[in-house]
Parts: sequence; structure tokens; C-alpha cells
Amino acid sequence: MKRVIVGLTGASGSLLAQSVIDQLLTLGHEVHFVASKLGEKVMAYELETPYETVLAAFKENPLFHLYDNDNLFAAISSGSFPIDGMCIVPCSMGTLGKIASGITDTLICRAADVSLKERRPLVLMTRETPLNGIHLENMLKLSRYGAVIMPPVPAFYNRPQTVTAIVEQTAARALRTLGIMTEAYPVWNGEFGDVDE
Ligand SMILES: Cc1cc2nc3c(=O)[nH]c(=O)nc-3n(C[C@H](O)[C@H](O)[C@H](O)COP(=O)(O)O)c2cc1C
Repeated sequence: MKRVIVGLTGASGSLLAQSVIDQLLTLGHEVHFVASKLGEKVMAYELETPYETVLAAFKENPLFHLYDNDNLFAAISSGSFPIDGMCIVPCSMGTLGKIASGITDTLICRAADVSLKERRPLVLMTRETPLNGIHLENMLKLSRYGAVIMPPVPAFYNRPQTVTAIVEQTAARALRTLGIMTEAYPVWNGEFGDVDE
């Protein structure tokens, strides 16, 4: 069992967060979840479901731990609390910029900062398009300090048939980066046999 922090911020892509949490819990991993205020609002808007209703399903699982983004006294605020990795999904340009500047005034930013100082895996599913120079510089800076910059860019070589499939596979890629293999992970096996079909 792994212990993973999942941070949700106010970028588009709440479905990805939902899928990351779903897959982790299904596989029996511990999820330590924290959302920004805008993350909560965008999730409710995109899923057309009250945020509390989305959370209720997860809260039934004892592996799911919920934190307030203002609670800097939380366990995941400290490097002494053992964690296997952190994924911010989706990661807004605002949160990206704060992490890149070392600003740690929220639990999400503090936990990300701790991940970097403890040399633990930190995956940032940065979501914005197009990207300006500030976004790109922040991503490059954090990549140099060890974060994995992983915009949710779907793969099509495995021919996904539904939006759900694209979401699940993109979420699975993030988990793979944390060393967690899931059934939804699209593996390219090198076969070209049926390209003309
Ligand atoms: C519906 C909606 C979609 C948004 N999508 C994005 C996005 O894809 N990327 C982004 O960087 N900001 C996006 N924003 C803006 C962020 O929510 C805003 O910058 C916010 O301050 C980010 O704060 P947070 O990082 O603490 O969640 C969106 C806002 C709304 C209302």
C-alpha cells in the first residue's frame, strides 16, 4: 500500500482528479486529499454535482483522508510524515507559480514544497492553454528541482473510444509516474500489425 497526497486546484480537469482518487482507492492505496477553494468550485461546476456530494462517495472509504487547505498544522505539512508521492491534479498556473516561488501559505503548496525538499515524487498535472512565458519558466524551474511536469495530454495510439477512457488513461499515467501501475495504463507493445485495418 502506498500513501499518496492528491491536491486539487482550480484548473479545468476535475474529472482527472476524480479518476486519480478512484484508481488509488480501488487499488487499496491511501489518499490524502486537499482542495483549494477554487478547486472545489470548479469541480462542482464541471461535474455538475455539489462538491460535498462528490466527496461523500470517497469519504466512505477509510483509506481516504481529507484536509483543509488552510490547515498548515496537518500531518502532510511536515516532512516527518511518510509519504510516497504527491500529485496535483489539475494544477492551476496560480498554484504552479506559488510552488515555483517557494510560497507555502496553503497546505497544497506547503505539501508540494515538502515533497521537493524531501526528494519525493511530485507530479504536477499543469493545465492551461496556450501557455505564456511565465507558465513555461515556472514549469522548467520546477522540473529542474525534481517535479514531474505532466500536462494532461491524452494519447490516441491505443484508440480510446470515450472521454472516460481518455480521462482514466491520463490519470493512470500520472499514477505510473508515482510507481503505481493500474489497469487503465495504456501500454504500447510495439506491434504495428493492424495499422492498415
Ligand atoms: C471554470 C474555471 C476554469 C478554470 N480553468 C483554469 C485552468 O485550466 N488553468 C488555470 O491555470 N486556471 C484556471 N482557472 C483559474 C483558476 O481557478 C484561478 O487562477 C485560481 O485563482 C487558482 O487558484 P488555486 O490554484 O488556489 O486553485 C479556472 C477558473 C474557472 C472558474
